[in-house]
Amino acid sequence: QASTNQAAVQPLPPGSVVAVIGSGAMGAGIAQVAAAAGHTVRLFDTRPDALDQAIAGIGAGFDKLVAKGRMQAPDADGARARLLPAKSLDELHDAALAIEAVVEDVQVKRELFARLEGIVGADCILATNTSSISVTAIAAPLQRPERLAGMHFFNPVPLMALVEVISGVATGRAVADTVYATAAAWGKQPVHATSTPGFIVNRVARPFYAEALRLLNERAGDAATIDAVMREAGGFRMGPFELMDLIGHDVNFAVTQSVFAAYFNDPRFTPSVLQQELVNAGFLGRKSGRGFYRYGGDALPPQV
Ligand code: NAI
Repeated sequence: QASTNQAAVQPLPPGSVVAVIGSGAMGAGIAQVAAAAGHTVRLFDTRPDALDQAIAGIGAGFDKLVAKGRMQAPDADGARARLLPAKSLDELHDAALAIEAVVEDVQVKRELFARLEGIVGADCILATNTSSISVTAIAAPLQRPERLAGMHFFNPVPLMALVEVISGVATGRAVADTVYATAAAWGKQPVHATSTPGFIVNRVARPFYAEALRLLNERAGDAATIDAVMREAGGFRMGPFELMDLIGHDVNFAVTQSVFAAYFNDPRFTPSVLQQELVNAGFLGRKSGRGFYRYGGDALPPQV
């Protein structure tokens, strides 16, 4: 539903500090978008190599936008200068908005927010980029659960307009409205949703992946054929296997497990053994160079 009084709700001021925790595919994209929108961004990851890689990747992203004429060089320089790697969580103390994009695990997210609550100021909004975990459950142990909302971006963040703004049971309306207005100010198309397993997109997308994996198991066709059919005949921008490779099988598998558990093991959401084996093998998709497809030097179709 649209907010009742959206015009009156102000986004975060452009100069304010946005903290992003987790600098993987999503965190890096969120940091890029926030820096381009004029925020000082403090980016933190427990793995220093991931942080270095993200900063380099975001810089290259800005270069690409300049080369394509979609960003002015001085704006790119400004955004780059506003992007600051943080060596510890304590450095995030001045954030007006802290967005986490760490591993899809409720315990890890809860522990992170518990620590953040002791670091950031009273007015800081806490946001989770979780794909599927209950926002209500992530917020519950906080001293002030009303200040946490879901801010669910899509991959790749700089290109995908949609942002689901998720309210848990305790989320304050003003908090959800500010997150919504901020996403809009960043050039995104936000929607309000309440916290249900998988929210809107990941709920309706589960059968897309699950049925495709079942088809593959039954040898109806190989991954490339099924992808091509969905693109050509179904009108999807990407087929299910290409999309799972883009998302990352570790992430996609964790989301399926989480939705399956949240719906009391409804068989419709049963996770795929095939996908579990890809995770076991470390064939996580594009980010590891191999999933259903190979990436890099020899872009070869189907492995499974
Ligand atoms: P990723 O695996 O690319 O990155 C996660 C990063 O978090 C890693 O660099 C890791 O070192 C870091 N990390 C783990 N625990 C941490 C902690 N306690 N503190 C700080 N850093 C920590 O994962 P990705 O794909 O970026 O996903 C992150 C979150 O975003 C997950 O909750 C996922 O469900 C969600 N998401 C993922 C989408 C996708 O298409 N991959 C789409 C939308 C949401």
